[in-house]
Amino acid sequence: MARVEDKWQRIRFHDYRTLFSVPKLYERVIYDILKCRSPQVITDLLNKSLKQENVEPQTLRALDLGAGNGIVGELLAKQGAELIVGVDIIEEAAVAAERDRPGVYDEYEVLDMTCLTDGNERMLRAHEFNCLTCVAALGFGDIPTGAFTAAYNLIVPDGWIAFNIKEEFLSGNDDSGFAGLVRSMIGDSVLDVRCKHRYQHRLGTDREPIHYVAIVGQKQRDIS
Ligand SMILES: C[S@@+](CC[C@H](N)C(=O)[O-])C[C@H]1O[C@@H](n2cnc3c(N)ncnc32)[C@H](O)[C@@H]1O
Repeated sequence: MARVEDKWQRIRFHDYRTLFSVPKLYERVIYDILKCRSPQVITDLLNKSLKQENVEPQTLRALDLGAGNGIVGELLAKQGAELIVGVDIIEEAAVAAERDRPGVYDEYEVLDMTCLTDGNERMLRAHEFNCLTCVAALGFGDIPTGAFTAAYNLIVPDGWIAFNIKEEFLSGNDDSGFAGLVRSMIGDSVLDVRCKHRYQHRLGTDREPIHYVAIVGQKQRDIS
């Protein structure tokens, strides 16, 4: 039987604006009803990879791309990260992060990473990020490859990269551009993958599981 189209697989900016504008609505829909597990899964895998390399989580200077209302930032803060900077393209996300999780982010910038001004780039680079998190924000018309690349290239060599993506976006049939990007990042030794893990990201509104792949690794060099 054909799957009923899952509207919430394709959440658009106006949906996020509504979800973030009403306190706890995002958590109610995405976490309570649709059982999203990704922030916990990704930050746990990051932590596990750090432990394996004897890296203290307290040394992390993290750029959280597509930060939303701060759920990932909160988990990084619990792990003791030294610095956490959130970036999101919509103002409502920044307002919600401050409203719902005050103090979690040292800074939160409302920016389009695909067209950073020189000033934005200088300001972000000055933080000497050694960690990039990007959770539940790639593909689906959200963060495009160009924005991910720009954020990746702000991370210092040997920095930690933790992100997830819908498994179909890593397959040959993908038209988001991420299949090719991730393949070349791994094949050209741009990213040294420490952990790749398929898991249930959340349920669709038809209650069918949606699977993502989490990738944690260490940056070797910039994406060219
Ligand atoms: C599903 S939410 C995930 C939020 C958070 N990472 C979490 O796991 O709860 C995706 C977020 O990506 C943001 N986003 C979409 N496109 C973006 C872009 N081009 N640059 C920055 N953020 C973007 C959206 O505004 C939204 O806040």
